[in-house]
Amino acid sequence: MSRLRSLIERSYSPYSGFRVASIAVDEEGRAYPGVNVENASYGLTMCAERVAIFNAITSGARRIKRIYVASEAEEPVPPCGACLQVMAEHGGPDMEVTLVSLTSGAIRRYRLKDLLPHAFTPDMLEGGRSE
Ligand code: THU
Repeated sequence: MSRLRSLIERSYSPYSGFRVASIAVDEEGRAYPGVNVENASYGLTMCAERVAIFNAITSGARRIKRIYVASEAEEPVPPCGACLQVMAEHGGPDMEVTLVSLTSGAIRRYRLKDLLPHAFTPDMLEGGRSE
């Protein structure tokens, strides 16, 4: 909780004012931080979860075992659909997703498969290719 609290200070969110911090943890217990990074061209915004996962992959992590997502909303917020899809690629159905409110202290723990029960997965590309 204290790591997420200091990490959220790095959120670059001048347009929404909605700060998010995320920590992805790999199979070896290594932690990789991310914050949301917004842009004056709004659509280029990147969510904290994807920054954390891409940071992990860039740093040499193979599989993500769990991810923490923290905001200052009273009720913990779930990841957006795009982030869930990225979690499906690098974590898989049993990956733990822990949502935290840094305001109320509320914590909600899920498995990815409960948040995204019908993920599009790499194996589905097999057989769908032309020629
Ligand atoms: N955001 C995240 O970083 N993660 C979430 O789970 C929800 C949304 C960011 C994107 C944008 O910078 C701000 O929150 C408002 O949508």
